[in-house]
Amino acid sequence: MSPIATETATDTQAPKAFHMLNGVEAATSKSDHCIPLKLSGALKTFKQFDLTTVIGTQFENINLTKILHSPECDQIIRDIAITISQRGVCVFPKQAELTIEDQKVLARKLGQLTCRPHTSDLYIHPLNQTTMPDGTIDAELTTLARDPAKKLYAKQSGFSGGAAIKKQSHIDGWHTDSSFENVPSDYTLLHMKTTPAAGGDTLFASAYEVYDLLSEPYQKFLEGLTATFMPPHHEPSNIESRMWKGARGSPENVGAELRASHCSVRTNPITGWKYVYALGHHLEGFDGLADVESKVIKEHLERLVTENPHLQLRFRWHPDDLVIWDNRGVYHSATFDYTAKRVGNRICGVGEKPYLDPRSSSRKYALNL
Ligand SMILES: [Fe+2]
Repeated sequence: MSPIATETATDTQAPKAFHMLNGVEAATSKSDHCIPLKLSGALKTFKQFDLTTVIGTQFENINLTKILHSPECDQIIRDIAITISQRGVCVFPKQAELTIEDQKVLARKLGQLTCRPHTSDLYIHPLNQTTMPDGTIDAELTTLARDPAKKLYAKQSGFSGGAAIKKQSHIDGWHTDSSFENVPSDYTLLHMKTTPAAGGDTLFASAYEVYDLLSEPYQKFLEGLTATFMPPHHEPSNIESRMWKGARGSPENVGAELRASHCSVRTNPITGWKYVYALGHHLEGFDGLADVESKVIKEHLERLVTENPHLQLRFRWHPDDLVIWDNRGVYHSATFDYTAKRVGNRICGVGEKPYLDPRSSSRKYALNL
């Protein structure tokens, strides 16, 4: 993913009522929170298996293009959305027929059939839009294309012999997409088209499990904190002249200041599970704390990700793989170790304004693990 392409710790900004599409209703509660959604059983004819016990599920023999044009589409897509939110990441191999327009329809349905507010749509990256072959701009599409032969890549990666300074840690690669926005992304859909023979894997880590690893007093402490997110080196003076001028998938995502404060622990509206949101590349610090206090918390949370392989998933891409993750429940990091071209199409949805519902529970508690 692009390095930049993320209220108080109470439930003041929960999503409101939602949609009814083709008879499929997104459940909402009387108190404006989306109550946890339940699977309908629409996926039972599709083969699927878990990639780890904590995170990741892979589907087999599923053609999403055909599903998008089938009468059962909304029921199936809604269950796929719930599965992604529960498992963090879902893999759909061999989606060769899926067009960019199909990918956008799917991204819209994943949110609209679950808990996405009416005001949210597809994300527009502030700096990265795609110029199509006919010269038009597709603002909702980010094409991830890196050619290792280019000097810029060599300097950025630190893996190449051309790098002036050896980079010994890539901890700063971990992030959630658009956490610096007032209303960040919900689902990210990455359709890989060209892959190197080896390398270029994407790593995912469960934010639910990070919350579950914390002691109860530490969980409570973190729930009382808000955190500020900002992509480093993206002050308005650096980017204003070349950034997207309109709203970025929500009327609240406007302006040149890419900085937002969110609750450190969020509730995922689909699952009703708590997770640690304040983590990763875009995290500037915890509001109101001294710099040294903020640094200690940040480093502790990062250690939980890097020192616990059981909450990670490392995914090796093949051409036409579609991977969808719920940015609310996972962190991810790219691996810049490849020596051949890698190209993928990314579409992101925009979700709800982050909130913490005090009635929500941890994943382990909810699943009685
Ligand atoms: Fe990303």
